[in-house]
Amino acid sequence: TWNMGSFAKEKIEEIRAKVGSKKVLCGVSGGVDSSVVAALLAEAIGDQLVPVFVDNGLLRANERAQVEAAFKVRLGVELITVDASDIFLERLKGITEPEQKRKIIGETFIEVFEKEAKKHNGIEFLAQGTLYTDVIESVSVKGPSKTIKSHHNVGGLPEWMKFDLIEPLREIFKDEVRILGLELGLPKEMINRHPFPGPGLGIRIMGEVNREDLEILRKADVVMLEELRATGYYEKTWQAFTVLLNVKSVGVMGDNRTYDNTVCVRIVEATDGMTATFAHIPHDILENISRRIINEVDGINRVVYDISSKPPATIEWE
Ligand code: XMP
Repeated sequence: TWNMGSFAKEKIEEIRAKVGSKKVLCGVSGGVDSSVVAALLAEAIGDQLVPVFVDNGLLRANERAQVEAAFKVRLGVELITVDASDIFLERLKGITEPEQKRKIIGETFIEVFEKEAKKHNGIEFLAQGTLYTDVIESVSVKGPSKTIKSHHNVGGLPEWMKFDLIEPLREIFKDEVRILGLELGLPKEMINRHPFPGPGLGIRIMGEVNREDLEILRKADVVMLEELRATGYYEKTWQAFTVLLNVKSVGVMGDNRTYDNTVCVRIVEATDGMTATFAHIPHDILENISRRIINEVDGINRVVYDISSKPPATIEWE
């Protein structure tokens, strides 16, 4: 592997030489890759960096505040947060088909990002967190007929926005990106974060997405993650999340009959997400997660655990 200290220095020099006095636009999601790219750029070119974070209304509890704080406190970078949740949620009204949801979210993201970009003069570059694995994947068998889910990233930008690309992570792997991030001063919690899909909670609510269900899902997710962190399983797993199934079932709470929604807990082990197995979480931990979600989250009376691996299932449900 590379020595990440000297790798960072080398990249910073490269970026400075390439950018000169121009500006660089960088979409920040809070995920590891885009955060490390933004951190490198902040170090290299300071306020010539235009870091844009789009709040699509499909983020997890406190996510926006956490991302903003991490950038400000650790890197001294003030993110430009665009609150576009109303637009996203409005356009998702009545939409139930997964690919259509993904398409709407992806297109809206580009539209919002484009509108923000137009406000800044002198941008000549776009920075992206492309990894070596992405480079390999895009040159292998991946024609349109092979598209299983339309993954959302900044690939579909309009013609005028096809700025020169800056992709400082193109030669390295995820584990190296993490080391680099620590080297650059990003907090551990950010570096060890599980992957989170671009369409966010929008593809973790089966069927139509609305604010009420988003709130229910956020609460369930917080509880599950608390239990997982407390038992050390967050670090041991690739991804862990909850899915709101939109399946109602009968239950009993105290003396009352309930007829409420079901939450599915999905926890998987993987090395790159291309394949995955469901995590063999001890039953007592699952029991705590289930009991706490049902007790603490109004609107949920049943919790199930997903025991499917990928393939043939995928990691996300939509
Ligand atoms: P699937 O569900 O296809 O997911 O097994 C594989 C990995 O990709 C993540 N994922 C996405 N990431 N944009 C992303 O950036 C997306 O649209 C998207 N969809 C899925 C998923 O969370 C898992 O890590």
